[in-house]
Amino acid sequence: MNIAIIGATGGTGSRVLAQALASGHRVTAVVRRPEAVSPAQGLTVRQGNVFDKSSMVKALAGSDVVISCIGPSSNFTVGDGAGGLANLKAAQKVMAANFSPGTVMSEGIPNIIAACKHNGVQRLVMQSGINLSDGSELSVPDRWAVRLMRRIFRKAITDKAAAEDALMRSGLDWVILRASVLQYAEGTSKYTAGPLARIHPLQALPFANCADCLLRAGISEPAWSRKIINVGR
Ligand SMILES: NC(=O)c1ccc[n+]([C@@H]2O[C@H](COP(=O)([O-])OP(=O)(O)OC[C@H]3O[C@@H](n4cnc5c(N)ncnc54)[C@H](OP(=O)(O)O)[C@@H]3O)[C@@H](O)[C@H]2O)c1
Repeated sequence: MNIAIIGATGGTGSRVLAQALASGHRVTAVVRRPEAVSPAQGLTVRQGNVFDKSSMVKALAGSDVVISCIGPSSNFTVGDGAGGLANLKAAQKVMAANFSPGTVMSEGIPNIIAACKHNGVQRLVMQSGINLSDGSELSVPDRWAVRLMRRIFRKAITDKAAAEDALMRSGLDWVILRASVLQYAEGTSKYTAGPLARIHPLQALPFANCADCLLRAGISEPAWSRKIINVGR
């Protein structure tokens, strides 16, 4: 199977890339900066910017499945370190990105949808966030936490909501994956994922677990088709 990963330089996307290659899949990394991706067997790197529809059409040619891990770039690199300090730096960068999200989701996802249609790709998985939920499936304290986060990150929610809406109306075989807060840590053997799953939005999940869930959504969970999947602890 040829899996295209858009945003393969990011915290989540880089782990989806590594895990897909380790599972023996052919992978196309679609990135703005090809030099940031190390060569590997089974890996093709293509340059693409989600604001440029024609670059997406070219980049997704030959793909069977597309996984989008794009977002307002936090510009955090693993080279910034690991552990508590790294997670603190990452949290600061993620907050800054979410206060000024731009339109990368609301403009980018429709261009990815168009490129999937052009190339006959049916399955498109989009990484989103649990703050897109109204919180009704969560415990009462978590519901209020989500509602507070929705107010604080209003611009980012508006941008992602437009992207989710475009995907749900696309007619593709889509999956939207709403993740809790993520962190740089070893993957755990267990995490919670499923339609309307009762996760804890503020209990950080390792990027590696979110990446595992995105891959499952792309290749091995037919029952998740056209569903919103919550993933977290
Ligand atoms: N981190 C969290 O705690 C968390 C929690 C829940 C949901 N989410 C959401 O999940 C998604 C991924 O999160 P993340 O933390 O893995 O993100 P990230 O590390 O900031 O990575 C974002 C990725 O998007 C790429 N990108 C940005 N603008 C682009 C463009 N115009 N064209 C092509 N690629 C572009 C970036 O490329 P460059 O390397 O070139 O900048 C990078 O690869 C985001 O939508 C985020 O909001 C994150």
